[in-house]
Amino acid sequence: MTDFEFWSPTYFAFGKGKETCTGELVRRFGGHKALLHYGGESAVRSGLIGRVKESLSSADVEFVELGGVKPNPRSSLVEEGVRLALGNKVDFVLAVGGGSVIDSSKAIAIGAANGGEWRKFYVGREVKVRPAIPAALSVGVVLTIAAAGSEASTNSVVNLEPENLKRAAGGNILRPKFAVMNPELTTTLPPFQTACGLADMFAHICERYFTPTKDVELTDALCEALMRTIVSEGAKVMANPDDYQARASIMWAGTLAHNDLCGVGRVQDWASHGIEHELSALYDCAHGAGLAVVMPAWMTYVHKSDTARFARFARNVFGVGLGVSDEDAALEGIAAFRAWLKSLGLPLTFAELGAKKEDIPILVKTLNLNGNTLGGIMPLNEADVEAIYNLCNA
Ligand code: NZQ
Ligand code: ZN
Repeated sequence: MTDFEFWSPTYFAFGKGKETCTGELVRRFGGHKALLHYGGESAVRSGLIGRVKESLSSADVEFVELGGVKPNPRSSLVEEGVRLALGNKVDFVLAVGGGSVIDSSKAIAIGAANGGEWRKFYVGREVKVRPAIPAALSVGVVLTIAAAGSEASTNSVVNLEPENLKRAAGGNILRPKFAVMNPELTTTLPPFQTACGLADMFAHICERYFTPTKDVELTDALCEALMRTIVSEGAKVMANPDDYQARASIMWAGTLAHNDLCGVGRVQDWASHGIEHELSALYDCAHGAGLAVVMPAWMTYVHKSDTARFARFARNVFGVGLGVSDEDAALEGIAAFRAWLKSLGLPLTFAELGAKKEDIPILVKTLNLNGNTLGGIMPLNEADVEAIYNLCNA
């Protein structure tokens, strides 16, 4: 294990009806006037936005609102949010939704605290050191989908227009002050979105689990427990969307998969996410669906760089490959992973995702490695990335 510093200050209010505490939590974390930010129709239709507004009003929190965040959140709405936040002198941004709403909120929080400047903090793989974000308004979250883990993460991913580049900002300053997590709110998700969330949180663990760092036994064991839980409880929520206990396990798993509890003290990979973000930028597909296509292809391409680790994954997560060689176990594990994604109804190929082989040069170009490599367990250059996109097309 390598040395690390870990700061994960998010306050969690977890359980049925917890959204009624939202106003009180905004107050507790210093908010008096909030920008209430949300997505399309789902949170309005379910009555959640109404309940959150009531909670804000009863805690004497003033608010202005901005809905309309699209999946793969767009920079134009962030700009509108920053103008609204500055014009109304808000001191808090409240996100009600999933990763896209939270990430849009984080971008607005940066812009509102830096005289409108936020975009320069969103960079790609070409930059080795992310620009430090000097200030950001406090962000609070009412989570409606277990997936991206943004409710406790250091990151925000925004689709920058007009170039259509999906780029990320990061830093502890972006960790939300609180996250209200009521698993019941996730029962209205369409099965496809539930499945995308499962794939995304599983991928967040893989990005940390597949590491060149040795002797990280505790975090390896945490990762494996989380991955097994996502598979077993994921099957339950897919079979019965109203299974509260399974929804609760999945919701908490999504947070623990990405607040970096499992990533400390080790080199992390993140190649699959880099490769995927180009797909969701170009095709506007769901991030989890893109990962379902990329992750198995990436595993197939890199597994020989540490066959024993891939064999351990196969044995400890999917219970396959007992009594066979590490190479056979590794391949069986990748096949089991692929079969699990298929059982969720997720795409596995470019064709199923709606991506095109002819676009591979564009995808490689916009990833913009600029001579750098991508990934930890096996550093990938442009030719490697191109080969992985080709495997996705197979
Ligand atoms: O807009 P509405 O109508 O709310 O519909 C949303 C949206 O269409 C719907 N939805 C959410 N909660 C619902 C619901 N529908 C019914 N009932 C509910 N309770 O789900 C759709 C997808 O929402 P979105 O927020 O896009 O999903 P997700 O949480 O998967 O977020 C994906 C975004 O997060 C980024 C991704 O790249 C993508 O842009 N990521 C952010 C990360 C971070 N900040 O740390 C890390 C991730 O790796 C990821 O990159
Ligand atoms: Zn992700």
